Amino acid sequence: MTAILPWTPGTRPLMLAPMQGLTNRAMRALLIEWVRPATVFTELIRVRPGARKIVSDADRREAGGRQGGAPLVVQLIGRDPAGLVAGAELAQACGAEHLNINMGCPYGRMHGGSAGGALLKNPAGLAATLVALRQAAHGSFSVKLRAGYDDPEQVFALLPVFEEAGVDFLILHPRTVRQRYTGRADHRITARVVAATRLPVIANGDIMTAAAGLALLAETGAAGLMLGRGAMNDPFLFARLRGEKPAEPSQAERAAELRDFFHELLRRYPALFCGDEQTLRKLKEVAVQVTDPRFAGPIRDLKRAKGLARFADHIEAIL
Ligand SMILES: Cc1cc2nc3c(=O)[nH]c(=O)nc-3n(C[C@H](O)[C@H](O)[C@H](O)COP(=O)(O)O)c2cc1C
Repeated sequence: MTAILPWTPGTRPLMLAPMQGLTNRAMRALLIEWVRPATVFTELIRVRPGARKIVSDADRREAGGRQGGAPLVVQLIGRDPAGLVAGAELAQACGAEHLNINMGCPYGRMHGGSAGGALLKNPAGLAATLVALRQAAHGSFSVKLRAGYDDPEQVFALLPVFEEAGVDFLILHPRTVRQRYTGRADHRITARVVAATRLPVIANGDIMTAAAGLALLAETGAAGLMLGRGAMNDPFLFARLRGEKPAEPSQAERAAELRDFFHELLRRYPALFCGDEQTLRKLKEVAVQVTDPRFAGPIRDLKRAKGLARFADHIEAIL
């Protein structure tokens, strides 16, 4: 059975990456309104077999099939096949239509020791997990992975496993798990993976400008792109990639866009988060991702702001 993919057939989707602490429902809604990513993902949803609730109530509320007209992919992180299948079934009962499994997160210890990228440490067990999830998934089932645990060539040995298990598409971040976020994503690996598999491959990692994204599509033949930190640094990156906004905006344009971005988040976050302290912490997590050196001073002030009112004042200093 070929599942319906979470993007329009014949297009090369620009997806918003799942980022814990950043791509919450309010952030996704804003980006969907402003720049229409083809596909959005939930932040990772932990599956905890043995816990009183294997998926928390808050995470259950996240599961759905679409958000604001964009297909929503529900991402699960966990380790054992039975637990992940139970998590997948629960997510689907809560409305999930597209499921993704996280095989990239380098912080495995936070997820019970061997989940996320650590799944790549035990490739022999992967096939059973993938087959079980494929059988459980009613809609598309995808894998988001690093190139390997400590060997960037590991992905090539896994491609037949993904194909035989019936995975619908891959999202590749071509760093190793051990590398965490150091060095650069090596998209020469992406190009070789695209050539070596019949599965659509979405390229992810270090896409910070429209020129970089377009070159990546051309050089790798990837089926689409996934933007993570680049979309927090410049929320209009999606529009630039589609040629709807200048590829190289002036400092004044960028500053105005960043002010609007933080104003909107400041307006929307209090409805999602609990109290000023949590709202401020979440806003600062976004500020951390704005790495454009032209705004280093005001961004540093945002990160140090002592309250929401001060945060609001500092937004005005982004010039
Ligand atoms: C703060 C943060 C949180 C992340 N959370 C997730 C997550 O929940 N699930 C996931 O698959 N990847 C997660 N990632 C990885 C991103 O989805 C993406 O693969 C990675 O940042 C590389 O892409 P980029 O260079 O475009 O950011 C996270 C990354 C960051 C920086």
